[in-house]
Amino acid sequence: MHTCNAPRLDARLAAAYDFVRPGHAAADIGCDHGKLSAALAGSGRCPLVLACDLRPGPLEKARMTCAPYGDKVQCRLGSGLSVLEPGEVDDIIIAGMGAETIIEILEAAPWVFDARYNLVLVPATKHSILRRWLARRGFALRAETLCQAAGRWYAVMNAQYTGAAREPDGLFCLTGLTNGQPGCSEYYAVQNEKLKKYRLGLPEGTERDAVGELIAELDALAAR
Ligand SMILES: C[S@@+](CC[C@H](N)C(=O)[O-])C[C@H]1O[C@@H](n2cnc3c(N)ncnc32)[C@H](O)[C@@H]1O
Repeated sequence: MHTCNAPRLDARLAAAYDFVRPGHAAADIGCDHGKLSAALAGSGRCPLVLACDLRPGPLEKARMTCAPYGDKVQCRLGSGLSVLEPGEVDDIIIAGMGAETIIEILEAAPWVFDARYNLVLVPATKHSILRRWLARRGFALRAETLCQAAGRWYAVMNAQYTGAAREPDGLFCLTGLTNGQPGCSEYYAVQNEKLKKYRLGLPEGTERDAVGELIAELDALAAR
């Protein structure tokens, strides 16, 4: 947990901070307000932080937040990982975007499919889609922290490329490594509500039946 004069982090960004490896240069992609970049640089956890955003307005906010940390934070304007040279940082954080955007950003940078990079991913939505993509594309989920911020559940994911691509089962996509963590029953109940709505839109048949089975499995996990 960070302890410095940098802005306070919500539970989600605090969990992301904890997955960043001390002593490594990091990039905060979609940094917006710059709070995480400031905490990583201000605490001394990272010798260099690249605070990056697609839009000038958010990047300006980050520039102001990170101003006290001088050249320990560099601000870069542009999409995803296109603003980085391969190998420039070791740890890459992408927080506060939907799973599909995170996936697009990673797919657009083939160099990130390499075990040297420590990925910290905080999808704002569709956690299960990101877990499935990671497994299919050969990334191992090393750790995951379930947390609540502003009344919503977040899964903060720490992933590393291994090259061992696999087809994950549905329950893994929905739960990842969260089983047994504080709040997991509530998280599963929320996930299951979404799954139930999705199932309602499916025609009678195999997928509808399979989703029904998944709902029952998740209900059983939530009830433990
Ligand atoms: C909701 S904010 C998240 C801020 C912070 N990372 C957090 O989790 O609190 C999302 C930020 O991502 C930026 N963004 C969206 N798509 C992006 C992309 N492809 N590359 C870089 N930044 C992007 C937006 O401009 C916005 O500032």
